[in-house]
Amino acid sequence: MTTITEPSQRPCGPRGRTGGTAADESHPAVLGRVLTGDRPTGALHLGHYFGTIANRVRLQRQGHELIIVIADYQVITDRDRPGDLARLVADMVLDYLACGLDPDTTTFFVHSAVPSLNQLLLPFLSLVGVGELDRNPTVKDEIRVAGRPAVNGLMLTYPVHQAADILFCKADLVPVGKDQLPHLELTRSLARRFNQRYGEVFPLPRALLSEVPVLVGLDGQKMSKSRGNSIALTAADDTVAALIRRARTDSQRRVDYAPRDRPEVANLLRLTALCTGADPAAIADEIGEGGAAELKQRATEAVLDLLGPIRQRRRGFDVAFARQALARGVERARELADQTLREVNAAMGMRY
Ligand code: TRP
Repeated sequence: MTTITEPSQRPCGPRGRTGGTAADESHPAVLGRVLTGDRPTGALHLGHYFGTIANRVRLQRQGHELIIVIADYQVITDRDRPGDLARLVADMVLDYLACGLDPDTTTFFVHSAVPSLNQLLLPFLSLVGVGELDRNPTVKDEIRVAGRPAVNGLMLTYPVHQAADILFCKADLVPVGKDQLPHLELTRSLARRFNQRYGEVFPLPRALLSEVPVLVGLDGQKMSKSRGNSIALTAADDTVAALIRRARTDSQRRVDYAPRDRPEVANLLRLTALCTGADPAAIADEIGEGGAAELKQRATEAVLDLLGPIRQRRRGFDVAFARQALARGVERARELADQTLREVNAAMGMRY
């Protein structure tokens, strides 16, 4: 599959199915449309920030059109209770705004509010085999982690729904982590199959694979809110300090950057480096015999320096503003989805 790797800042091809040739980056008309998405399951944390949000802000600054889907239906793939979605979604929008995503140029929306996007699921489902759904490695992992006695139908079919999230707006680029690549591949197959069967409607989107090293949690495990090992973007100063103080390190005095042999120390160095823009090995050299205490001190300062302005900006927005931004996004997404559904229905002969 075609993937592009960040942060090489390669110019994007003009819109179209082949991805085309290198384009002049100074010409906004040829910058691609970027679609990304999140599940509203909890507060955004530093892992999200360095994994995707900072990259989105950069793409926005470069002049790409950005569309962000808040995938509320995906929340009920692996749990029965979606939680307080109204609050989770409002918080997510506030976090986006605080990080610098601008609702005047970037569209945020919830996919449940866009009926014509959801309707695309029906023709798409006819283009995918049951065996193919069963083999999706990301879905298999999620089923294993969820550890539930029965798998519901949405769990198996949500990647097809995700294809609708991407194709409704004919996105060119989809920034994703590695775990989402199977979904991107399926999306491309569905677009190709639809075009072959009914005529050209969908350009093939490309994955923009993030090269940012994934941060692990402060206990060395995968970072997640439920494990209590992540730092939320809204965390108070003393919470940040306490979380980092409790972070796992090892018994060696001297700090060096050895990701394989000393993963916990390397993780704190990487966190500090990401926050300050410095090199993790250089930070380790500076600390040297200062040990874990100095490393934690530096990590705490670096995180607080990064989060300070984000929290300050967040205080400038209220829930009413977030709702308004979302309502505008929904309206824009509806226009795009209605147009695409008209094309799909026409291609399928569903004009009555
Ligand atoms: N599945 C993605 C996740 O778990 C969220 C998502 C929903 C998404 N729709 C999308 C990502 C479309 C990229 C494109 O994080």
